[in-house]
Amino acid sequence: MASTSLRSLLRTQSAIPRLSRGYAAKAKTLKETLAELIPKKIENVKAIRAAHGAKSFGEYTVDQAYGGMRGIKGMIWEGSVLDADEGIRFRGKTIPECQDLLPKAPGGNEPLPEALFWLLLTGEVPTQEQVTELSADWAARASIPKFVEDLLDACPSTLHPMSQLSLAVTALNHDSAFAQAYQEGINKKQYWQTTFDDSMDLIAKLPAIAGRIYRNTYGGGNAPAIDPKADYSQNLSTQLGFGDNEKFVELMRLYLTIHSDHEGGNVSAHTGHLVGSALSDPFLSMAAALNGLAGPLHGLANQEVLNWVSRMQKEIGQDASDEKVKEYIWKTLNGGQVVPGYGHAVLRKTDPRYTAQREFALKHLPDDKLFKLVGQLYELVPDILLAAGKAKNPWPNVDAHSGVLLTHYGFTQQNFYTVLFGVSRTLGVVSQLIWDRALGMPLERPKSYSSDAIKKMFEKK
Ligand SMILES: CC(C)(COP(=O)(O)OP(=O)(O)OC[C@H]1O[C@@H](n2cnc3c(N)ncnc32)[C@H](O)[C@@H]1OP(=O)(O)O)[C@@H](O)C(=O)NCCC(=O)NCCS
Repeated sequence: MASTSLRSLLRTQSAIPRLSRGYAAKAKTLKETLAELIPKKIENVKAIRAAHGAKSFGEYTVDQAYGGMRGIKGMIWEGSVLDADEGIRFRGKTIPECQDLLPKAPGGNEPLPEALFWLLLTGEVPTQEQVTELSADWAARASIPKFVEDLLDACPSTLHPMSQLSLAVTALNHDSAFAQAYQEGINKKQYWQTTFDDSMDLIAKLPAIAGRIYRNTYGGGNAPAIDPKADYSQNLSTQLGFGDNEKFVELMRLYLTIHSDHEGGNVSAHTGHLVGSALSDPFLSMAAALNGLAGPLHGLANQEVLNWVSRMQKEIGQDASDEKVKEYIWKTLNGGQVVPGYGHAVLRKTDPRYTAQREFALKHLPDDKLFKLVGQLYELVPDILLAAGKAKNPWPNVDAHSGVLLTHYGFTQQNFYTVLFGVSRTLGVVSQLIWDRALGMPLERPKSYSSDAIKKMFEKK
């Protein structure tokens, strides 16, 4: 963005009234907090570009263009940064730090995803009061339009839950405040406000959508109403029929927190940002992101892990020896398939999201048979992947563990697992969408070449 456009954005943002004026005793809402932050962030970006805008990230090669653009630094993502060895940091905070610092539910030990969303969006740790208000705000926005209910009810139960989720999220675009404001000719400097409103609506409606998909697909009758006093994870668990199990609700709080964001280059995050750059509203952008998440190399891997483990147990039994398990792993690789839940495009060590789930399991389900098998795989798979000599990272990722925890609590419908991932990933994708619009990020449009064009370009060099 040219600095003149940054300057004019700044002028308009400063003109946004201080929404909290006159309510000094009341904690600032998320939107009020953002309205105050945005002018400062615009200044910050301006300063970064003035100081470093002409500097180079380094060279990249033809191989990288053919190789899925690994390592090419070409995106801005504010909420989180992924270090190959250390793993994810949400606004500079590791997962254990988030577990320590973020507000929790009364009596709970895991961070509330509401708090993580606040952190992703603002870089600040919210107060308990702010988080409670955010839970109430999401609960108040939770109902879904009748036609979306009908749309979901019309889906055959054989339609994959992720396809149903994507359909429903796309359809929410019917009521997009951003799309409507755009049609009415809104000034681009105000884009972030309706993007924020749509994002809040989208997050808020996901528990009812997920619950309806789950109950339509697997049975369980009508879901109860959203509880205006409950936190987001409690409401989601209740919609799914697991709300009475406090441990499951705690698991959801952890799950929704750690799956939310993994910097910008992964398929779902990148897709959301790319589609949003065309000024598609948050519903359309997130639906596109969900379609990417539904791929087996990305979010569907958490379903695939359980499928793979179940097939293994069927073939070699429940308490198989290390030798038998090793044979099964080699059979998978020799059959030209991946071992799901292992490897990563960026990480080069055990994923701290895996570790966080392992610690949850050690605390709450240490004797679970499937958990023990996951531990056995952790001992065996990395050496085999190293010996096979292809995977750059032989260590487990987030998906290697999540299914086992869900299964422990009786949530055995693995085709649904990626929907939970999608609910969580929405927090990260929409956080960035809001900043994309606040910072006036342009249409994303990298340059591509054909193989013939590359040949011509370099054959004489
Ligand atoms: C995540 C993943 C897609 C990353 O892909 P990537 O960045 O291309 O990974 P690498 O550079 O290490 O891949 C190099 C080779 O090792 C293979 N490889 C990587 N992880 C592997 C795994 N878990 N099992 C078997 N082979 C694997 C790749 O398929 C590739 O093979 P190829 O050269 O024949 O195409 C990959 O590790 C994978 O498929 N993992 C299993 C699926 C999964 O768990 N996905 C969730 C990720 S959070």
